[in-house]
Amino acid sequence: MRDFKYKWEEFKKLPFGTKKKFFIRENELSYVIFAQQFDRKKLQELFALADKIRELSKNKAGADSLQNLLSHKRATLFFSQPSTRTFKSFYNACHILGIKTTELRDGTSSSQKKGESPEDTILTFASYTDLIIMRNSEEWLAEKASWLLNKKNRVVKIINAGSGKDQHPTQSLLDAYTMEIAFKDKKGIDGKTIAIVGDLKRGRAARSLIYIIKNYKNIKLILISPNSLKIEPDVRAFLKRNKIKFTETSDLKSNLNKCDVIYMTRIQDEYDVNNESKEIDYSAFHLKKSHLRLIKKDAIIMHPLPRRDEINIEIDDDKRAWYWKQERNGMWIRAALIAYMYGMQKEIMNFNSEL
Ligand code: CP
Repeated sequence: MRDFKYKWEEFKKLPFGTKKKFFIRENELSYVIFAQQFDRKKLQELFALADKIRELSKNKAGADSLQNLLSHKRATLFFSQPSTRTFKSFYNACHILGIKTTELRDGTSSSQKKGESPEDTILTFASYTDLIIMRNSEEWLAEKASWLLNKKNRVVKIINAGSGKDQHPTQSLLDAYTMEIAFKDKKGIDGKTIAIVGDLKRGRAARSLIYIIKNYKNIKLILISPNSLKIEPDVRAFLKRNKIKFTETSDLKSNLNKCDVIYMTRIQDEYDVNNESKEIDYSAFHLKKSHLRLIKKDAIIMHPLPRRDEINIEIDDDKRAWYWKQERNGMWIRAALIAYMYGMQKEIMNFNSEL
């Protein structure tokens, strides 16, 4: 057992700047818990790696080379909250790299039903596998898992695939990767005006995206939400501390013509305490076909998905609709992240894509 001086209650309260060094084991991304763990250099490395994995996957020789890389590793996908694309993209990302997967999605089929704690469940996964990819409603659980496993001699890696209302760091990776691709010939993400629309209070994708955006210069954020679903005070303080320009409004329509990115999100009513979402007219935060004429010709429309009515399906055929590409990018960037966590980036970048 490794010596780890902090008890969980103490560790939890440490500022991110202090605790981030405790997450470093085999490399600085042994435990991917927060979007703030990614700096610009690491993002660029991951984007290049994702591009390369995508390229290699186009032919059998390349795909076979990738599948040999981590064929000695096993992953558990522990998703106790619902998911379609995060689960499937991680599942397929593991398989692209040859990692064998097991999964636990439904608590009723596990020993949690017999009273086992989530912590003991995680320790059990760690007995059998090398990587735990986890989505849970408890905001603290992925971080606590990394605290627990940090004490073990054998390194079992953790990826937070969504922690309650708090964070969705790998969503922010695929969001930034998508913007990077979209603005490749337009001076990149720097200097862009990005609207984030919807439930900014409880949306973990929105929160993690704001943390990632810190890595880019001269961004203007337009935060568009119902009054009762504005960003939390700590996010506002983060924006001010990092001198990121932002405005807060509830007016979608009159801001559309200013945006390079319109990032729509769903109301997170699964976190309602007393059906409070029912009181909100969310239709003012829906993108309709009639809005398209107001949007810049080279802007992009994004959504972490799943959607309800935030983006009318008629918009799907517009060339500015990037959300289905964004979803697919999730698989490539998650494969890149896992490869990076296992130190495979040089090997992959040296593979010959022409084979
Ligand atoms: N974006 C996202 O997290 O989607 P899922 O809930 O389907 O995984």
